[in-house]
Amino acid sequence: MPRHPSLSAATAGLSADVYSALAERARRRGGTIHPLHVGDTYLDPPEGARAEAQRTAEHPRLHNYAPVQGEPALLAAIRRRLAGRYGHDLDPACLQVVPGATTGLALVLAALLDPGDELLLPSPFWPLIRGLATTRGCAPVEVPFFTRLGEPGFDPEAALEAAVTPRTAAVYVNTPHNPTGRILPEPVVDAVARVARRHDLWVLADDAYEELVYGQPHRPLWLRADLADRTVASHTLSKSYAFAGGRVGFVHGPPDAMRAIRGVQVFNAYCAPRPMQLGAARALEEGDAWLAETRRLYARAGAEAAAALGLPAPEAGTFLFLDAAPYFLPGEGLPGFLERCLDAGVLLTPGPAAGRDYGTWVRLCFTAVPPAELTDALGRLARVLGRSGVSRSDR
Ligand SMILES: Cc1ncc(COP(=O)(O)O)c(C=O)c1O
Repeated sequence: MPRHPSLSAATAGLSADVYSALAERARRRGGTIHPLHVGDTYLDPPEGARAEAQRTAEHPRLHNYAPVQGEPALLAAIRRRLAGRYGHDLDPACLQVVPGATTGLALVLAALLDPGDELLLPSPFWPLIRGLATTRGCAPVEVPFFTRLGEPGFDPEAALEAAVTPRTAAVYVNTPHNPTGRILPEPVVDAVARVARRHDLWVLADDAYEELVYGQPHRPLWLRADLADRTVASHTLSKSYAFAGGRVGFVHGPPDAMRAIRGVQVFNAYCAPRPMQLGAARALEEGDAWLAETRRLYARAGAEAAAALGLPAPEAGTFLFLDAAPYFLPGEGLPGFLERCLDAGVLLTPGPAAGRDYGTWVRLCFTAVPPAELTDALGRLARVLGRSGVSRSDR
């Protein structure tokens, strides 16, 4: 039991510097530094969605609490979006607006898991999910997965099975995926579904990048008949509408789970910010053309970045994930490599933030800076990697 000055055991070892321990060195260095280490965008949201477009004259009590479940206009816009995109008529009681998916997933974990439970984390993963599990007192169980899918003989079902214990309560599945930019193929989702059903696991489906798909549309997990009864899906406007500072997301799932999640939200965040919920509703209602153009810009940036790193173009999302070991100098490890990238003017995320098995990997966000800056960053990286780089004429 912690007593002053000790802290909660669940938070011991958490660091606010999830994305780069190099930030301090970067501050000291000065000069041009391209921050490709954090998942962000250079774009502003569609006009009607922006903070400055929400006015008290139009929305009396704009700054009051919103209803716990969410603003009616946003709830309606979300249901229309899911109906239009997936032909699914969502039960209104099963929907909950949350102040961003990070909080949303924390609420889901608090509602569905107990301290001591284990959460399967196919890795690499979005860096914050591991800390969300540990702050809940749960044990994250990392299973190298996304980077192994192409390996001859890799059996996704066996890999997950081997990690299941009597304490396993849930599996977290993020597709489209941060950081690999891949969409899980249907047979792999079939394998996840079999493991989840066999062991009575909850499925936490993280759909943060559902709108940023550059090729074939994918089928979300929550739409599958074999997963619908056990899947809580998490969505956010942060990525699809450049709305990360707006802190608006939503979760939906089976009725009992949603009742519990709503209950936790009352005693936690209470509601998402009302002005931003109204903006989010407008993004969903008015932002189709903006989203189409954003998708085009991001797909192009992703293809350019992938070419510079010698990777296949991303299928979705805003990241690439690279094993940098072949580019290490003799005797160099990941810290030295990252410092060389920084000295060249580019910040990258260390792979271990996305899983302990990724000690030689790096993550790059290709939407964090405008196209011309990205080209400059990629040229700098290409020199560090000893690759020929990309020419501006390709753009
Ligand atoms: C996979 C994934 N899930 C969830 C989130 C969190 O999104 P939000 O900004 O809504 O908290 C992110 C943000 O980077 C993400 O990449």
